[in-house]
Amino acid sequence: MMRVLCAGAAFAALLGLATAQEKKAATITVKVTESSFKDTVVKVDGVEVKGKDGTRVFTTPALEPGKEYKFAVEALIEPNNYTKITRPREVAVKAGDAVTVDLSVEDKKLDKIVVRWVPTPNDIVDKMAELAKVTKDDVLFDPGCGDAVMLIRPVKKLGAKKGFGIDIDPKMVKVAQDKAKDEGVADKVVITQGDILNEKDMAAVAESTVVLVYIGDDLGARMSPLLQKMLKPGARVVSHRFKLGDWAPDKTVQVKGEDGDEYTLHLWVVKEKK
Ligand SMILES: C[S@@+](CC[C@H](N)C(=O)[O-])C[C@H]1O[C@@H](n2cnc3c(N)ncnc32)[C@H](O)[C@@H]1O
Repeated sequence: MMRVLCAGAAFAALLGLATAQEKKAATITVKVTESSFKDTVVKVDGVEVKGKDGTRVFTTPALEPGKEYKFAVEALIEPNNYTKITRPREVAVKAGDAVTVDLSVEDKKLDKIVVRWVPTPNDIVDKMAELAKVTKDDVLFDPGCGDAVMLIRPVKKLGAKKGFGIDIDPKMVKVAQDKAKDEGVADKVVITQGDILNEKDMAAVAESTVVLVYIGDDLGARMSPLLQKMLKPGARVVSHRFKLGDWAPDKTVQVKGEDGDEYTLHLWVVKEKK
């Protein structure tokens, strides 16, 4: 009888061990901001996870107990037709875990923001230069210069001393350089490839007296502290449509374009540093 009991206990223990070591899945719940322009896409290890209402739930394959597994989670957010934000995160889970990752909030270090080229119409560039009171003594800067219209026109029409532009897209850099050559102002309009979030690439801001910009809310907000730090008192910034984070503009005006559309322009005048 005793032998039967012992054998039974050993079997139960073995069964218990097997159950304890059974592989189990984990779940990763991803919180995201939905965009009214385009559905936010969430991928885990490159595979899209469908869902709605700001939540996507990914179930991992069965995982070995006790081991840690890492998954690459990424949200692609398109708040409008010119901005793409990629928000990546690495998530570590163990078998049986249920973790939540919040990708609804901006991550200044990890977010990659791409804004595509949308040109400012010529007459609106002229209105921006007017608002900034550009004269022949001014040195201009355009962060995200596209085809450099915001530099070439004020240099040609108002005799501005110099124009510096940077663009992250090498194709746009070439377009802008060729256009400056074609328009006969290549000696005054200097275009280089660079990122507006990189202080070194933005070096020319320090010697600029006027910044004309059209870059979108997200990138504008990110660049704003750099502009405020680098510009000298008295410098003027005029932005087509977008504000620069929480830097309050000194003036906002609506102007009518030749195309019949209304355009919003914001002006900042850099104050004495405290
Ligand atoms: C909306 S367009 C404006 C072009 C021009 N300033 C205008 O108003 O006609 C924005 C430009 O910024 C460039 N851009 C986007 N992200 C950038 C970044 N991080 N650094 C530099 N340029 C960027 C794009 O390639 C594009 O040419």
